[in-house]
Amino acid sequence: MTTSKLPLYFAPLQGHTEAPFRNAFEQAFGGIDGYFTPFVRLEKGHFRAKDVRDILPDNNNVPRVTPQLLANTGEKAETILSLFLEHNYKEVDINIGCPFPMLAKRHNGSGILPFPEEVKQLMQIVTNHPEIKFSVKMRLGWEDAAESMALLPFLNELPLSHITMHPRVGKQQYKGEVDLDAFAAFGKECKHPLIYNGDILSVEDIERIQEEFPNVAGVMIGRGLLLNPALALEYKTGVELSHEEVIERVKTMHRQLQEHYEASTQGGEIQVLNKLKPFWEYPEELIGRKTWKAIKKSVNMDKYRAALRQGGLL
Ligand SMILES: Cc1cc2nc3c(=O)[nH]c(=O)nc-3n(C[C@H](O)[C@H](O)[C@H](O)COP(=O)(O)O)c2cc1C
Repeated sequence: MTTSKLPLYFAPLQGHTEAPFRNAFEQAFGGIDGYFTPFVRLEKGHFRAKDVRDILPDNNNVPRVTPQLLANTGEKAETILSLFLEHNYKEVDINIGCPFPMLAKRHNGSGILPFPEEVKQLMQIVTNHPEIKFSVKMRLGWEDAAESMALLPFLNELPLSHITMHPRVGKQQYKGEVDLDAFAAFGKECKHPLIYNGDILSVEDIERIQEEFPNVAGVMIGRGLLLNPALALEYKTGVELSHEEVIERVKTMHRQLQEHYEASTQGGEIQVLNKLKPFWEYPEELIGRKTWKAIKKSVNMDKYRAALRQGGLL
């Protein structure tokens, strides 16, 4: 039996956990000790407007937000960092784990892991800015767990606040099993607080990680919280919410999101619809396959509302 509760972090999920979602989630559910933003990257040398909007402190109403950067050189990382500094962030996460092939082939995310010299050049940002607490979110490698083990002596010497490890390799994307043996081997040598991330779907899953890896500094959860938004709260309080209670809170959350997007989205209802639909993509089990299919098929707000009403979600 484990008694002490681990810190839980909401993983960044581009297209799902942007600021309006984080704000609505925190109000309706919570149970989270810190939120990480989806990565900010440069596109042809410029920031994407949606990335800037996402990290603006005025748009964020949750207790602890850590912005994340994705870059393949120290110079690009510095440019992104300057945006975070402009808005007074003191903690920054560096993504060397993203498996998206279009980015990885240019040595971004987990695509940089087989190139230790490039990782070192990127990580100069950490020693350049001792006033900032940097953390790293990574995978075991692009192709092989040996890549992260080879980087570890270097990472150990950096003044990082923690490392979050998703124990898959990049080329696996999200397929196959997480490699807990490789996570254990990395954890044994890692001198930084280590946060576990990957395939956590239930309170029992969190407790299993806690038991198997007593030194783990926390657990980061992504898709598990989209599937069951009550998961963190249930772990923290030890009380399981009824299905009805979860649905009520999901409805509250969706109402807040809808109000936000209706007030802020330019272009009309199709744009609003495109922002709202992804909200229902993961909790299919919660809302039923039929309801999700009707939501997905809806081509305007009237049809969307009808689908929600039919599914008892309005
Ligand atoms: C749709 C999607 C978008 C993601 N976007 C990001 C991102 O912007 N930054 C990042 O570090 N990881 C990103 N990830 C990876 C997640 O943060 C997390 O590491 C991964 O989903 C494994 O954790 P989980 O099994 O708890 O979801 C993304 C994953 C998915 C499925």
